[in-house]
Amino acid sequence: MPNHVLITHKLLDSCESALEERYVVHRLYSAPDRDGFIDALAPDITAIASGGVGAALMERLPRLKMISNFGVGYDSIDIAAARARDIRVTNTPNVLNDAMAEITIGLMIALARRIPQADRYVRAGKWPSGAFPLQSELNGKTVGMVGLGRIGAEIAIRCQAMKMRVVYHARSRRPHSPYVYYSKLADMARDVDWLVVITPGGAATEGLIDAEILAALGSRGYLVNMARGSVVDEKALVAALTDGTIAGAALDVFENEPNVPEALWSLDTVVLSPHMGSATNQTRNAMGALVVANLDAFFAGEPLLTPVV
Ligand code: 8YV
Repeated sequence: MPNHVLITHKLLDSCESALEERYVVHRLYSAPDRDGFIDALAPDITAIASGGVGAALMERLPRLKMISNFGVGYDSIDIAAARARDIRVTNTPNVLNDAMAEITIGLMIALARRIPQADRYVRAGKWPSGAFPLQSELNGKTVGMVGLGRIGAEIAIRCQAMKMRVVYHARSRRPHSPYVYYSKLADMARDVDWLVVITPGGAATEGLIDAEILAALGSRGYLVNMARGSVVDEKALVAALTDGTIAGAALDVFENEPNVPEALWSLDTVVLSPHMGSATNQTRNAMGALVVANLDAFFAGEPLLTPVV
């Protein structure tokens, strides 16, 4: 009896092809009548691939047993509802650590040296009229990691390679960490030049970076958000950037993606990227392979490779 897998959001072609080789695949993301589609398939669906699975969708799928999330962040899945139904959940950690760390450093350098603005300066034919303004460097500065998980650790290593001093704030001290630990985020924000946010998304971190933290970071401080838009109070951030409370920000994630506050578009103190932390062929293929491998393990009755629940 083949298993029926519901794909909630478009996955890489390679991942969807691999799923089609193994399972009966149903693409919710392209269904004209989403509710009718779910109702018709509800008796057959035993697994979901991709993400964005709330309690309401789980309740409509009586045979759902497994959710294979595409992404290390699983804040779009109602974990409590999954636990209540003994629905297994997996994610795709580790394979994206380097891609995330690389682009974080890239965005920091782009912000510190105003690379996007310099590119536009040349393309606009302004160079002959004068040199691009002097900027600042990363070496010698202090970076505060907000979160020091697998991705945060890779970012920290690369910041050290840039001759930055690394400190961190997390819910608890990391044993044997080589970096100074701050139990209070506001204290760390006051003491650093850069604040790099790489915590998980979800209720526990919602609005963690608020007006108070931004004021503590101060007018010479830079914010980098590589986590989730929900972790930063976006209205407070726009205000802090607009009035110079902080010096600038590099943002890969936003509260209401793909919509980005237009107030940010015109600011030269901001570098914007479209949630592309893991968006490389190499990494996204590896993530897709993990989505498939976890489903295969589940249906073969074998241990899940990267279980969350
Ligand atoms: C992906 C991510 O962009 O892994 C995550 O949590 O946010 C990124 O790798 C996202 O999951 C794709 O929807």
